Amino acid sequence: MNQMFDLTGKKALVTGGSRGLGKAMAEALIEFGAKVVITGTREKIMDVAKEIGAIAGIQGDFLLDGQVEKVYIAAKNVLKGSPDILVNNAAIQRRALCEDFPDRDWNDVLSVSLSAVFKMCKLAAKDMIPNRSGKIINVASMISFFGGLNIPAYAASKGGVAQITKSFSNAWAKYGLNVNAIAPGYMATDMNEALIADSTRNKQILDRIPAARWGTPKDVKGLTIFLSSNASDYVNSAVIPVDGGYLGS
Ligand SMILES: NC(=O)c1ccc[n+]([C@@H]2O[C@H](COP(=O)([O-])OP(=O)(O)OC[C@H]3O[C@@H](n4cnc5c(N)ncnc54)[C@H](O)[C@@H]3O)[C@@H](O)[C@H]2O)c1
Repeated sequence: MNQMFDLTGKKALVTGGSRGLGKAMAEALIEFGAKVVITGTREKIMDVAKEIGAIAGIQGDFLLDGQVEKVYIAAKNVLKGSPDILVNNAAIQRRALCEDFPDRDWNDVLSVSLSAVFKMCKLAAKDMIPNRSGKIINVASMISFFGGLNIPAYAASKGGVAQITKSFSNAWAKYGLNVNAIAPGYMATDMNEALIADSTRNKQILDRIPAARWGTPKDVKGLTIFLSSNASDYVNSAVIPVDGGYLGS
C-alpha cells in the first residue's frame, strides 16, 4: 500500500455508520488500517460493527440532549484516546410541502444534520489541536449548493455543513487540522427510497447525471481515504462533490 494513504494505527470515529454511505466510509477506513468506531441509533450498530471489523458500535440518538457528547466520550474510551479522524456522516431527511413544513421536522433535521456536526467538530478539535494534527470530514450534499424540492430543513442543514466546514477550517488549519467536506450526489441508499420509487423524479435526476447512474456507497470510499490520509495534508476547507458530474451538468 502506498504510505501516503496508509492509515495503520489511526483512530477514527464515523457517525451514522450503520448503513449506507457511513458504513462504506467506515469499511474503507478499516481496509486502509484504521481502528474505527461507528455510531448509530439502534442496538444493531454492535452487529454492524462486528460485520465490518470496527472495534465498536456505539448507540446514540442525536435528537436527544447530551447524546453527541456521550457518544464522543464513549468513542474515546474504546479507541483508548482521541480520534485522529472524525467523519460526521449522520443526518436525517424530512420531506413536506414548504408552506406546510412542520416546525418539529425543521428542529429535528437541524439537530441531527447540523447541530450534531457542529458539536462533534468542536469536541474533536479540542483534542486534535494539542496534537497538531487531525482530519475532520463532514458529509455535505448537492443540497449544500442548491435548494432541492420540499426539503427546506435539509437544505438549510447541508448549506450549514458546508459553511461550518469552511469556518472551522479557517480557525484550525494553522494547528495542522484538515477540515473538509464530501458532497455526495444522488446515491442509492435508504435515505433516497422515496425519490427512487418516484418514477418522474427518478427520471429527472438520472437525465441530469452525466455518469448516467445513481451513485453507490462504494463511490465515496476513495475520497474518504484521501481526506483521511497524509495525501490531503494541504487540502483545507474544500467541499468536494462525488456526484457523477451532476454539478457540472
Ligand atoms: N444518499 C444520498 O443520496 C446522499 C446525498 C447527499 C448527501 N448524503 C448524506 O450522506 C450521509 C449518509 O447518507 P445515507 O444516504 O447513507 O443515509 P442513511 O439514512 O442510509 O443513514 C443515515 C445514518 O445516520 C444515522 N442516524 C439517523 N438518525 C440519527 C439520529 N437521530 N442520531 C444519530 N444518528 C442518526 C443512522 O443510524 C444511519 O447510520 C448523510 O449525511 C446524508 O445527508 C446522502
